[in-house]
Amino acid sequence: MALGWLFGMRSSSPAVVAALLLINGVAAQTGADILPFVDPLIGTVNGGHVFPGASLPFSMAKAVADVNGEDQGGFASDGSNITGFSHMHDSGTGGSPSLGNFPLFPQAGCPDDELNQCVFPKTLRATPRINGTAEAHPGYFSVELATNIKAEMTVTEHTALYRFTFPQTPSENNSVLSPLILADLSDLPNSRINGSISVDENTGRMSGSGTFSPSFGIGDYTTHFCADFSGASIRDTGVFMNNRAGSQPKSLSVVNDGVDNSPEILPAGAYTRFHAPSHNNQIIARVGVSFISAENACNNAEKEIPDFDFDKVHDAAEKAWSDSLGVIEVKPGTGVNSSFQTIFWSGIYRGSLSPQDYTGENPLWKSSEPYYDSYYCIWDSFRSIHTLITLIDPKSQIRMIRSLIDIYRHEGWLPDCRMSLCKGFTQGGSNADVVIAESYLKLKSVTKDIDWKTAYEAVVTDAEHEPENWSVQGRGGLTSWKNLHYIPTDDFDPYGVGPFTRSISRTVEYAYNDFCIAEMAYGLGHSDDYSKYMARSGNWENMFNPKQTSAINGTDTGFTGFLQPRYLNGTFGFQDPIFCSPLMNFTSCYLNPDGHETYEGSAWLYTFFVPQDQAKLIATLGGPEEFVRRLDYLHTSGLLYIGDEQGFLPVFQYHFAGRPGKSAERAHAYIPSQFNDTVVGIPGNDDSGAMGSFLSLTMMGIFPNPGQDVYFITPPFFEEISIRNQITGKRATIKNINFDAEYKNIYIQSAKLNGEVYTKNWLSHDFFLNGGVLELTLGSEEGAWGTKLEDLPPSASTHGEATKYIL
Ligand SMILES: *[C@@H]1O[C@H](CO)[C@@H](O)[C@H](O)[C@H]1NC(C)=O
Ligand SMILES: *[C@@H]1O[C@H](CO)[C@@H](O)[C@H](O)[C@H]1NC(C)=O
Ligand SMILES: *[C@@H]1O[C@H](CO)[C@@H](O)[C@H](O)[C@H]1NC(C)=O
Ligand SMILES: *[C@@H]1O[C@H](CO)[C@@H](O)[C@H](O)[C@H]1NC(C)=O
Ligand SMILES: *[C@@H]1O[C@H](CO)[C@@H](O)[C@H](O)[C@H]1NC(C)=O
Ligand SMILES: *[C@@H]1O[C@H](CO)[C@@H](O)[C@H](O)[C@H]1NC(C)=O
Ligand SMILES: *[C@@H]1O[C@H](CO)[C@@H](O)[C@H](O)[C@H]1NC(C)=O
Ligand SMILES: *[C@@H]1O[C@H](CO)[C@@H](O)[C@H](O)[C@H]1NC(C)=O
Ligand SMILES: *[C@@H]1O[C@H](CO)[C@@H](O)[C@H](O)[C@H]1NC(C)=O
Ligand SMILES: *[C@@H]1O[C@H](CO)[C@@H](O)[C@H](O)[C@H]1NC(C)=O
Repeated sequence: MALGWLFGMRSSSPAVVAALLLINGVAAQTGADILPFVDPLIGTVNGGHVFPGASLPFSMAKAVADVNGEDQGGFASDGSNITGFSHMHDSGTGGSPSLGNFPLFPQAGCPDDELNQCVFPKTLRATPRINGTAEAHPGYFSVELATNIKAEMTVTEHTALYRFTFPQTPSENNSVLSPLILADLSDLPNSRINGSISVDENTGRMSGSGTFSPSFGIGDYTTHFCADFSGASIRDTGVFMNNRAGSQPKSLSVVNDGVDNSPEILPAGAYTRFHAPSHNNQIIARVGVSFISAENACNNAEKEIPDFDFDKVHDAAEKAWSDSLGVIEVKPGTGVNSSFQTIFWSGIYRGSLSPQDYTGENPLWKSSEPYYDSYYCIWDSFRSIHTLITLIDPKSQIRMIRSLIDIYRHEGWLPDCRMSLCKGFTQGGSNADVVIAESYLKLKSVTKDIDWKTAYEAVVTDAEHEPENWSVQGRGGLTSWKNLHYIPTDDFDPYGVGPFTRSISRTVEYAYNDFCIAEMAYGLGHSDDYSKYMARSGNWENMFNPKQTSAINGTDTGFTGFLQPRYLNGTFGFQDPIFCSPLMNFTSCYLNPDGHETYEGSAWLYTFFVPQDQAKLIATLGGPEEFVRRLDYLHTSGLLYIGDEQGFLPVFQYHFAGRPGKSAERAHAYIPSQFNDTVVGIPGNDDSGAMGSFLSLTMMGIFPNPGQDVYFITPPFFEEISIRNQITGKRATIKNINFDAEYKNIYIQSAKLNGEVYTKNWLSHDFFLNGGVLELTLGSEEGAWGTKLEDLPPSASTHGEATKYIL
């Protein structure tokens, strides 16, 4: 293959590359030839809220055009207008937009060459894009404004670099090309509390600071920027307020001027106006960001991009992505639709955006430990993002775990959600416990850098101590949890405050959190704790009402026994088991004070959430056949919404009933029907890459039971995939034999691990640490492979082969 040519390609379309690879048939894709398959625009409209701009893996700088439509990720593939270009974003967030501070906005010249004919306020300057010009690739984004200004951007870790190409003639009444670039003291959610900005009349440098509100949390944060320019000489500089600008003064401050999140805050900022650029009508703008100081923002920029060389920075960003994605190799297999490669690589890519590495940028405490932010939110990310990062970038996962532990050291609690240096809202349990336990099981043999003793102290704090404010950390209802062994719907909890809702979903999450703590207790030799938390992990059963039936529109579903609300006095209450599902009042079940007993999902769905003990659940629900019948109903009745992360695990729970083939069927039922390569191709909020990580791990055939050292084996969607471990250097390969591109042969008939017969329907992380080859022989019907009791993934209460958790 013409690899050199591929390396040289910049904005080749995936179709061209796909054709090339097809000629080549079975060649594996690695490194740079992967990048054309990444389409960052997937999920940029219809609720995906994906950030499609320029980023490095986990970088703090994330540059994109901000719009006034669906703006949670900055940009959207809709018809809305562009309000500026900003340098930090979160991706896939639910409710409100995040970050987007200090946007730049370019104008080619002011009409009649009159400063005040240029447009300053965000609402007035918003400009349509030229349809079809948005282009997004790893490390690069560009779009053309209706004013014929082309904006391209790339990044380093803490610095965004923009290349603005201006039209020769700014407007019909102005033939003088004299570009003006403003910097606005605002952010995407218009949450500014105060801010200040100044401009240097000699260099045109604009720098400033502002205090803003986080998008899904409490408190406020202060952030800083520093913008420098290259390519044109300075004509004049100044500040603006409202729709007026002047060359004096050179700085301004605004204080407590607005109501949070109102559509408008007092427009204020600075500008630099240039003479015509010396080369190609282009001006390069370099914007450093920092949470420490404006000076630090300038230092970051000067250090990372001393020479304003756009192409060089872009090349380095591409290399960072091809190195990062290149640990995976895929042999697609003859006839596989290239859109599968696009959704696969794009999913991995989106799983590598957050949490973000703010090491050295944390003003809250001094520490030599790494600091990551934008754990937005762990309730979403524990289900597969951190498993993906542990697989493909364990060095980053180790740093993330260290940062979680350091947050605990300095704030007293692990976060469940965190963004912009602030505590975010907890949606259910203390799910950092799950992330830490999984890393403990998978990474403890390859790193000495993690302080597991303090990690254990942190998870035990979640389990034992109720915080005053459990809306942002820890758990509520701990006294009932310890004494009654469930969270009562009418809980008496004078020990802390938080939203007294979600008694069912909090109960099952707390039970699972305790199980994860038990896993660590076992490994660390705390046998009393192990017994205690194992016992508490069974608390889900206390909210199971064996008599509860469920009907849809008056027709009985034929299933009996669901989790139900339970009062302090032990009596069961009632919440329709389909309530909070897409079939009934789904949108009534958020974190609102009048929320219900299950969060963003029904009792039907939460009844399945016992990742620690499916064997017990299966027995409770009437045995494997009945369990499979119920799981089928969950998937086919409209009760399950795969666009919310609790939908992931039920795709694979058939494994526990000895029907791994049905898990594969479900995987193919959701992919590609719900996950595809269009701008609407994600069924829900991507939530920092949660949907992307589900998609990619499912397509690799190794979706995890998160929090445990367990991957469910299903046939990869490609003929062969392999992953090189970043720490051990070993390569693990999964090969399909009898692979067909129509996906008729999706049932594993037999398997070999390193040449030996392998009958278990699950794998542990050892495979990826030690390397090896797993060969799956496929057929068109369910076979006997992986169906025996001893082949099933472990459950807390089972005995024999799978009892690794039992002392
Ligand atoms: C651009 O696309 C949007 C929809 O995405 C549409 O509303 C608008 O009319 C289009 N504009 C032009 C000039 O085609
Ligand atoms: C976008 O700008 C165009 C032209 O100025 C205007 O007609 C349209 O209403 C704007 N749309 C939005 C969503 O601001
Ligand atoms: C150009 O000038 C004419 C006449 O003064 C005016 O009607 C028109 O709106 C101006 N166009 C722009 C883009 O300012
Ligand atoms: C900005 O607001 C924050 C939060 O209210 C406050 O702590 C800070 O002192 C203010 N800064 C200025 C410069 O007013
Ligand atoms: C590939 O998949 C796309 C949908 O993602 C579909 O439109 C196209 O027809 C498929 N191509 C082939 C050759 O099957
Ligand atoms: C407790 O959390 C609530 C949000 O649920 C927040 O409004 C309040 O400020 C927090 N109080 C403290 C003391 O952190
Ligand atoms: C229940 O009945 C209503 C009204 O007939 C109908 O709109 C809805 O689709 C039905 N729901 C289900 C799940 O069948
Ligand atoms: C238990 O408490 C609930 C809620 O207060 C009440 O409706 C129910 O009657 C009580 N049951 C008993 C047996 O007292
Ligand atoms: C269910 O949703 C409807 C609107 O769709 C709303 O009127 C009703 O109050 C909701 N019920 C509950 C119990 O939240
Ligand atoms: C693509 O995915 C979206 C989101 O799940 C879905 O609504 C849409 O129907 C899918 N498109 C196709 C062609 O399957």
